[in-house]
Amino acid sequence: MINIKETKKEFILELLNKDIYKVLDLGCGEMLLSKAFLKNNSFVKGIDIKEPLEIPEGAVFVKGNFFQEEFEKDYDLIIASLILHLTKKEFTPKLIQKIQDSTAKNGYNFLILLSNKDSLSTEERFYPSMSEIMEFYPGSEWKLIKSLEDETEPEQHGNAQTPDNIPHTHHLIFAIFQKQ
Ligand SMILES: C[S@@+](CC[C@H](N)C(=O)[O-])C[C@H]1O[C@@H](n2cnc3c(N)ncnc32)[C@H](O)[C@@H]1O
Repeated sequence: MINIKETKKEFILELLNKDIYKVLDLGCGEMLLSKAFLKNNSFVKGIDIKEPLEIPEGAVFVKGNFFQEEFEKDYDLIIASLILHLTKKEFTPKLIQKIQDSTAKNGYNFLILLSNKDSLSTEERFYPSMSEIMEFYPGSEWKLIKSLEDETEPEQHGNAQTPDNIPHTHHLIFAIFQKQ
């Protein structure tokens, strides 16, 4: 069973040991994942349709839609955490392609996804299996650096389908890929 906070920390620690100077955090929320890279003097940009309550000191925040915003092509790390299930499945391949095209050679993509085993999984949205993700990241172009797939500990947090007061679990995939 995954403790989300601990697992996020573990994956971020793995990335903090790499040569990462330029970070893009898509659907960044409060920039909780990407702000760790500010300590390394990395350039950190977050894009979200909603402004964070507080922009971490030194970070760049762009209020915008990641489908419409232009990305520069030289990011050492692009984070896509809990965003790929939010829109219709037909739009996902183009967004993943955009993420990959905007990643520098030897750069990384860090994905956190709700999987096909998640209770909210539907056919219309992107709730992939690990093997589906691997199809997007073929071994000839991307190296899988670290991955984990498991159910989370029960947590209370609200969303459209689950009221705040009911503890529930999710089924997540964490994956770091490096561009070859
Ligand atoms: C579930 S939250 C994840 C936040 C953060 N990535 C994390 O893992 O803590 C999804 C975020 O994506 C943002 N979002 C949803 N659709 C978006 C879009 N098309 N463009 C930019 N941000 C979007 C939401 O405003 C929200 O902050």
